[in-house]
Amino acid sequence: MSGFDETLLGEADETVRVRFVVNGRKVACEVAPRETLVDCLREKLELTGTHAGCEMGACGACLIQLDGRAVHSCLIFAVQADGARIDTIEGLSESGVIADLQAEFHRRNALQCGFCTPGMLVNAEELLSLVAQPSREQIRDALSGNYCRCTGYEAIIDAIYAVAKARSGGVTT
Ligand code: FES
Ligand code: FES
Repeated sequence: MSGFDETLLGEADETVRVRFVVNGRKVACEVAPRETLVDCLREKLELTGTHAGCEMGACGACLIQLDGRAVHSCLIFAVQADGARIDTIEGLSESGVIADLQAEFHRRNALQCGFCTPGMLVNAEELLSLVAQPSREQIRDALSGNYCRCTGYEAIIDAIYAVAKARSGGVTT
């Protein structure tokens, strides 16, 4: 169609090259400037264990570790993570670092559909790295940003509490 100023069209199509270390692997990819990290991880890197729920920082389904800290991957653009170390639920699982949490979630039926579970595990690992023996109340507070719509929270809290105790050399029940 003539008569339109099309000089701005190219801007929307632009991509930016970013580089990350994802689960120990160095990767480079092209992303749109406004592409979220969760979309990049799921769609470009096929790391679909990180879930996109609310996409506004409220549900915790998209939690990953960025340079060792838990962050919402729906709230940052992929370009903002350029140069960072990213660990997703796949990497945390493969390394065995959360094996005890996974086993305890399984043992206590702390999941049903599993949609919230990767975020729960990333958050639980973050909590236990900051507080060796959290109280049930502290665990409940820490999970206040993680929505579970089918399991309920008691079994999840029980599982994290038991792992905290075991990691500190205590006995689990
Ligand atoms: S998808 Fe990121 S907090 Fe819900
Ligand atoms: S296990 Fe289904 S949302 Fe938590």
